[in-house]
Amino acid sequence: MQTIFSGVQPSGTPTLGNYIGALKQFVDLQDEHDCFFCIVDEHAITVPQDPKELHHNIRSLASLYIAVGIRPTTSTLFIQSEVPAHTQLSWMMQSMSYIGELERMTQFKDKSDGKAGVSAGLFTYPSLMAADILLYQTDIVPVGDDQTQHLELTRNLAERFNNRYGETFTVPEIRIPTVGARIMSLQEPTKKMSKSDENVRGFISMIDPPKTIEKKIKSAVTDSDGIVAYDVDNKPGVSNLLTIYASCRGESIETIVKKYEGKGYGDFKAGVAQAVIDLLEPIQEKYYSLIESEELDTILDEGAEKASRMASKTLHRAQKAMGLGR
Ligand code: AMP
Ligand code: TRP
Repeated sequence: MQTIFSGVQPSGTPTLGNYIGALKQFVDLQDEHDCFFCIVDEHAITVPQDPKELHHNIRSLASLYIAVGIRPTTSTLFIQSEVPAHTQLSWMMQSMSYIGELERMTQFKDKSDGKAGVSAGLFTYPSLMAADILLYQTDIVPVGDDQTQHLELTRNLAERFNNRYGETFTVPEIRIPTVGARIMSLQEPTKKMSKSDENVRGFISMIDPPKTIEKKIKSAVTDSDGIVAYDVDNKPGVSNLLTIYASCRGESIETIVKKYEGKGYGDFKAGVAQAVIDLLEPIQEKYYSLIESEELDTILDEGAEKASRMASKTLHRAQKAMGLGR
């Protein structure tokens, strides 16, 4: 069975973009693969976090993973900081990473651009991500397309290590969804939908109540030609809503375009809102039943234990190959 690894940062409540680009794929993949899903809290602290909020966001993300359909009996769900091998291998990966290649990472450039007090952790973030993935001898990493460059670096680090010190790591493949690899902001449809957007109308949170979802979609930026058609370059707003609709309902974009032929944006937006609400309502119900439960702690304890067993094995192998320790 092939191994899958992916991570999401607990840096706010996940958005519909996280769901369509990442979480939804995880659910679809879990039956056929050995899956590790990680709450990457150590990645989150590369930018300042309020401790209370971070603590809440970790539990919240864990509940969401399960609420969207990750089965903890078959998949391993765990928190990065509870498995110390991640930071241990990450130091070794930092020592294998070149400053030049880290400087080329567009996520680092975007997040550090014009800011004072940029942390060293933000710079070496991709080396920690490589450690996450390589510890589990991962074959496939399902992510949104913003992570392509980080995955390329992970592959390079794995190959570099294997060439220098002997076969140690599986070189992972990236898996990007065919529909919804990049869900855009509802307010600026040329920008990625992000949970850290200052304008809350730009994103739909996974726990937004139905009324809020309706309002946000109603006020989504479209265009003035009034035709529901898919054309990313000329109609980014409508195309984004079509992608959202298609992903939530599991229908093709063509089917939806046909359905709204001759109808205006008002009808279309109401349809999009309903599709999102129908998707999120049962998820939210499950989410609220889990977030404060002991069941959640049991799941995370078991996940950390299982992940540690696998991660320690690879870590020791890599340490030995590098000549660390006795
Ligand atoms: P992050 O929230 O940055 O930790 O991202 C977690 C996962 O969600 C990654 O696989 C991202 O590629 C994916 N993701 C985040 N935002 C979007 C988006 N707007 N559209 C599609 N995928 C996304
Ligand atoms: N960097 C990813 C993001 O911002 C999160 C992440 C950390 C991740 N480690 C990972 C994703 C390992 C996949 C695999 O979305």
